[in-house]
Amino acid sequence: MRVGLLTSGGDCQSLNATMRGVAKALYNNMKDVEIIGFLEGYKGLMHEDYKVMKPIDFSGILTEGGTIIGTSRQPFKLMRVIGADGFDKVEAMKKTYRRLNLDCLVILGGNGSQKTANLLREEGLNIVSLPKTIDNDLWGTDMTFGFQSAVNIASEAIDCIHTTAASHGRVFIVEVMGHKVGWLTLHAGMASGADIILLPEIPYDINKVVAAIEKRTKEGKRFSILAVAEGAISKEDAQLSKKEYKAKVATRPYPSVSYEIGKRIEEKTGQEIRVTIPGHTQRGGSPCPYDRVLSTRFGSEAAVMIKEGDYGKMVGIRNNEIVRIPLQDVAGKLKMVDPKSSIIREAKAIGISFGD
Ligand code: F6P
Repeated sequence: MRVGLLTSGGDCQSLNATMRGVAKALYNNMKDVEIIGFLEGYKGLMHEDYKVMKPIDFSGILTEGGTIIGTSRQPFKLMRVIGADGFDKVEAMKKTYRRLNLDCLVILGGNGSQKTANLLREEGLNIVSLPKTIDNDLWGTDMTFGFQSAVNIASEAIDCIHTTAASHGRVFIVEVMGHKVGWLTLHAGMASGADIILLPEIPYDINKVVAAIEKRTKEGKRFSILAVAEGAISKEDAQLSKKEYKAKVATRPYPSVSYEIGKRIEEKTGQEIRVTIPGHTQRGGSPCPYDRVLSTRFGSEAAVMIKEGDYGKMVGIRNNEIVRIPLQDVAGKLKMVDPKSSIIREAKAIGISFGD
């Protein structure tokens, strides 16, 4: 059995833990397993850049963040675009798969990577994929690996801001990753007692945000903390077409949405504002215990799928049970925070403002 393995897209803390799960379960339950690790994601598959892995490669990596085989972003929308030099990426990947006599390919990736995984499935390759992303935005699974580790880091960042915000009596904005969705901001914000949480799924009204800050001031609270998703959007901007919004963002005189929100709050309240962006620290460091367990379960299931020859699916988790989801169902769909979900009601019930 020859199994190809690759990690694609933005990294996260639990990629190695997941690969370890796959490898250990394969070595323990099947004879004559050889794992080929493609370097830097789909790029390695395209250019036949790989390493024959040994069992020892998967030892001691449970707690190690990043990925031992490297990763890169290879946009899905360019997959079928032939390069100026005539390079056909899809054909190249298929050629590598066939030349190396692979029985299947295990892909660890987020949204774009799952779309490419589905494309390769359509092209006839045997694919098993695993849901990686700190954004937790993959459709079909309650949880992605990397998410909880990132929640820990973003929460710690907001915890640290709490003490300094309280000392100085300032309004602080902590900008949280998550791309187009607000899962990470919502969970980190709630976990660390943010007063205002702004998510892409709930466009904000700046006057409501200001009102929430002023209410706190009137109550004698000297500081306010906002957890703002990097994709947060105002009610006015949410009315724009995608194209118009993109054009507006391109000319925005601020490095990110948080600075714009900060400026508007400062103008309206006269309060002192600070912006903190933990950025890529949210993807770094060691996976948290929850992710280590989740990754091990995901990896172990992937090995069972390989043993059974059950391909074309992504491993996921629903109601704490591991499930297999057809890739064609996953590809191209985002799992977003539902503004009407109970978690939003619960957060609002304790006084958190979403600026809506
Ligand atoms: O998808 C993970 C993620 O960290 C997003 O939250 C963020 O928007 C993006 O990747 C950052 O990408 P890059 O590492 O390419 O800057």
